Amino acid sequence: MMRSGDFMGELPKRVKMVEVGPRDGLQNEPNPVPTELKIEFINRLSQSGLRTIETTSFVSPRWVPQMADATEVFSTIERNPDIYYPVLVPNVTGLKRAIDVGVREVAVFTAASDTFNCRNTNVTIEESLERFAPVMELAAEHELRVRGYVSCALGCPYEGDIAPSKVAAVARELSELGCYEISLGDTIGIGTPAAAQRMVEAVMTEVPVERLAVHFHDTRGQALANVMACLQLGVATVDSSVAALGGCPYANGARGNVASEDLLYMLQGLGIETGVDLERLIDASLFISDALGRPPSSRLGQLRLEERGEPVH
Ligand code: HMG
Ligand code: MG
Repeated sequence: MMRSGDFMGELPKRVKMVEVGPRDGLQNEPNPVPTELKIEFINRLSQSGLRTIETTSFVSPRWVPQMADATEVFSTIERNPDIYYPVLVPNVTGLKRAIDVGVREVAVFTAASDTFNCRNTNVTIEESLERFAPVMELAAEHELRVRGYVSCALGCPYEGDIAPSKVAAVARELSELGCYEISLGDTIGIGTPAAAQRMVEAVMTEVPVERLAVHFHDTRGQALANVMACLQLGVATVDSSVAALGGCPYANGARGNVASEDLLYMLQGLGIETGVDLERLIDASLFISDALGRPPSSRLGQLRLEERGEPVH
């Protein structure tokens, strides 16, 4: 007889949640977010049991003004030695700035679409990979871990459909360059579960699933279903943002990431370990939402406000 849950296949026993709220979440805020607020937000996230918190970006302040305070943010947060605080770096200039403040992990980012990559970083995919070679070398000298992102893994705001084989090819290049983990980004939140599985299955032929992460923006309400579909394939690293913050300034119409607290609730229900405390995550979500002057976009955050009798809309 089938036990309840058997239809779900073999799910990972443990999932690494990668919190990207302070970076992906805040990079897209239209109004300047005070540096002290970012610092307090990250410090609260550090209290939640998360083991990876993407903190900021050492990118050009002309391209992303919201991340111009990267140095101050990173040097002021209370860093817990058990937590990785990765930062985005687009080039050697960014990596040097990151090394100066003592990072242990960085992330490079490219895409499966040339048009998007040019809009986002002013170079084609191939040129970006060439740009990463010296980044990887310098990172290795400093014994830093490097994560790689592939944006537009399920579709591009400019080119439309993206072939899974293209995503797989870019992921392989990042892996060969030395990225220990590759995060596959549905930048505009266009994918559905079957498309997500087809894409991840294609990438798994080039990079072992243990080294893959998924990164879903929730534009069309598919993000949790997409995560579930990828867990069923063995993916055990998932990016998310508390309060469902997020978006890319160079991907028009993209909404926030899958909400960390909603994701954690689902993982707990599936009996998957994360080491993260739901209450503390919700507290961090309400803290940043309150500071930004709007209710959280997460379901659990909104429920908490309702319980407190506070307005949700
Ligand atoms: P560029 O203008 O071609 O750069 O931009 P450049 O090398 O020609 O340099 C121009 C000027 O910028 C120079 O200064 C450089 O020193 C300076 P000047 O001589 O004019 O005074 N510069 C820098 N300053 C500080 N930090 C740096 C840096 N690099 C150059 N690192 C560049 C190219 C890549 C720098 C630019 O396009 C850029 O910064 N892009 C970042 C865009 C970005 O951050 N997008 C959002 C993150 S990606 C994302 O959200 C997707 C993701 O979440 C996954 C998903 O959802 O799919 C990760
Ligand atoms: Mg993103």
